[in-house]
Amino acid sequence: MYNSKIVGMGHYVPDNIVTNDDLSQLMDTNDEWIQERTGIKQRRWAVKGDGNTTFSMGLKAAEQAIKNADIDKQDIDFIVFATLSPDYYFPGPGVQIQEALGIGTVGALDVRNQCSGFVYGISVADQFIKTGMYKNVLVIGSELQSRGIDISTRGRSISVIFGDGAGAAVLSREEDPSKGILSTHLHSEGVHALELAAEAPGMGKRWVTDIIADNDPEDMSYRPYMNGQFVFKNAIRRFSEVINQGLEANGLQVSDIDMLVPHQANLRIAQFIQKKFQLRDDQVFNNIQNYGNTTAASIPIALSEACAQGKVKDGDTVVLAAFGSGFTWGSVVIKW
Ligand code: ACO
Repeated sequence: MYNSKIVGMGHYVPDNIVTNDDLSQLMDTNDEWIQERTGIKQRRWAVKGDGNTTFSMGLKAAEQAIKNADIDKQDIDFIVFATLSPDYYFPGPGVQIQEALGIGTVGALDVRNQCSGFVYGISVADQFIKTGMYKNVLVIGSELQSRGIDISTRGRSISVIFGDGAGAAVLSREEDPSKGILSTHLHSEGVHALELAAEAPGMGKRWVTDIIADNDPEDMSYRPYMNGQFVFKNAIRRFSEVINQGLEANGLQVSDIDMLVPHQANLRIAQFIQKKFQLRDDQVFNNIQNYGNTTAASIPIALSEACAQGKVKDGDTVVLAAFGSGFTWGSVVIKW
């Protein structure tokens, strides 16, 4: 048995900055409401024609991660791509990455676990490396959400929260069992699937032809829906549980955490967790203020920034934790 270790991180966000004041020109909202409820000051939204897609942003993040990992891209054995906003209904963007990197016919797996997608992806990569099947796995989280949300007042409770961007990690084989990814824990609770969801287009209820045939301007079935307060309550409960589960599995205490990188769902959720675990400001990394909630991309963007800013050092105990649509949630405990 081997361990896996994150050897390189990268991220990319579109150039276009959308501030809360910009949003108040599009819908009935204001900077005070958004900051008070979510902590978000601005987000990046791709502009039509700027060339950004979920795949292309993921590729840029991946290229940076490969460069930072200082490995030859030909040594990548497997690709995992997490997103809820793929370029195509199918196939998923993993194969686009395989083609663009020109790395031979390595396997490419697409993960559909929304805000928990990156944590699920890391867990998959870790298992493949632990068993010895692969040596180097590329894990990407990327989202282009701005095209799918309703930017009128009707969609304001969702649209002010979400942003576009991508992050990526290269995981490699680590022979020292005390280093690298120490544990991953994954959970789901499908009874709450529709509390945070986009039901259409899908083969279940409404396919694209149904939406076109109905031509109903009030149709919100293809817009994301979120029962905000219910999500909030579940998020703080599950974040706490799964962080504790990861710590206990490794015989660690909360005081052992050097850096917690929570999914950037909402600054208020991260602050609640910080307070509950009595963590100092320098033990929690947040950047939702600048990027909004980028779903599967949020943890890798945050971890990439934390690394670039020297906030994650060799030997640190780093904890990643996510909660999102499904509901799904999970944690990763890392000895950096
Ligand atoms: N600007 C101004 N007013 C708004 C906006 C907006 N963007 N959005 C909603 N409002 C109004 C509502 O219409 C409502 O008005 P009313 O009282 O006249 O009916 C009022 O503000 C309060 O709305 P609520 O939805 O009750 O606001 P709440 O305090 O619950 O905050 C929020 C909403 C921020 C979404 C909150 O529920 C929350 O943080 N939920 C957690 C979910 C989350 O963070 N999800 C992130 C994505 S999921 C994930 O990543 C896990």
